[in-house]
Amino acid sequence: MNASVATADYLSRTAYGIEQALKTSIPQEWHIPARLREAMMYSLEAGGKRLRPILVLAAAEAVKNESDSYTLAMPVACAIEMIHTYSLIHDDLPAMDNDDFRRGKPTSHKVFGEAMAILAGDGLLSHAFYAVSQAAALGVPTDVAMAIVSDLARLSGVSGMVGGQAADILGEQGVTSITELEYIHLHKTSDLIVFAVTAGARIGGATRDQLAALEQFARKLGLAFQVQDDILDLIGDESKLGKPVQSDVQQRKVTYPYIIGMEQSLELVGRLTMESKEALKQANLVMPEKLLSIADYLMNRDH
Ligand code: IPE
Ligand code: IPE
Ligand code: MG
Ligand code: MG
Ligand code: MG
Repeated sequence: MNASVATADYLSRTAYGIEQALKTSIPQEWHIPARLREAMMYSLEAGGKRLRPILVLAAAEAVKNESDSYTLAMPVACAIEMIHTYSLIHDDLPAMDNDDFRRGKPTSHKVFGEAMAILAGDGLLSHAFYAVSQAAALGVPTDVAMAIVSDLARLSGVSGMVGGQAADILGEQGVTSITELEYIHLHKTSDLIVFAVTAGARIGGATRDQLAALEQFARKLGLAFQVQDDILDLIGDESKLGKPVQSDVQQRKVTYPYIIGMEQSLELVGRLTMESKEALKQANLVMPEKLLSIADYLMNRDH
């Protein structure tokens, strides 16, 4: 098996495990309006790469290569997928990017209406914090779980993803600078990836120095990921992406290809990926290989 086939195989096996855990993540015995539960599960089960939860599990195992790392990290893996999925539901709303397709299916508001889509997003956001509390119930030390709660609030909230999304909405072609665009991408996208990697590493028992190196890794990886997303919006294949192309053009978004051009954007993805791997090597992990191979894999992704 060559390296990229082996990575694809690892990613799909791990995604399957995450999907099994997501299925039972909202307690069956909770009384929830059926339509709301359906809307939450519709988006959560629609598929997607499951990159962020995979990074939680891979980072936990990179720090401490034992089978309990996977089990202990799974609730937090589910939590970040819930936050990510909520961010996508809201991102697609008519008031934001106004997109009709996501993960190969009609977007939440197309199926359930805008009000239920907004509420499904709200529900997933709150439920993510419930999921983190389940990590403590499984045996993640309370101080580690508390640090994860605090990171999740900061990195998904106003100083993180929500702040980045607000800056994205406020951005204007011809006005927004490249420094401002970097802010947008680092917050709307890198911050959830930083959360995923550092939360997994915390569960694995990472030292402060390891966390700092892993944060740099994730920050650069996340930026590369969003630049690649901008590129794929222009030259990607809708059937592979499972979402519309040319959405950024229609919405007159400020993107890397818009500001620095396609060629330089492609180059930037390569450079950032290399820098992310360099940062990772500084972390002296017991098993960095999976994280390194994920970085390489993402650089060449078409979806
Ligand atoms: C899409 O994320 C939104 C961005 C931050 C670019 P993904 O490309 O990870 O979407 P899924 O989870 O695979 O659907
Ligand atoms: C979205 O960026 C980032 C978040 C959802 C937080 P985009 O708007 O570029 O993501 P896509 O292209 O719709 O997936
Ligand atoms: Mg958007
Ligand atoms: Mg969008
Ligand atoms: Mg995009």
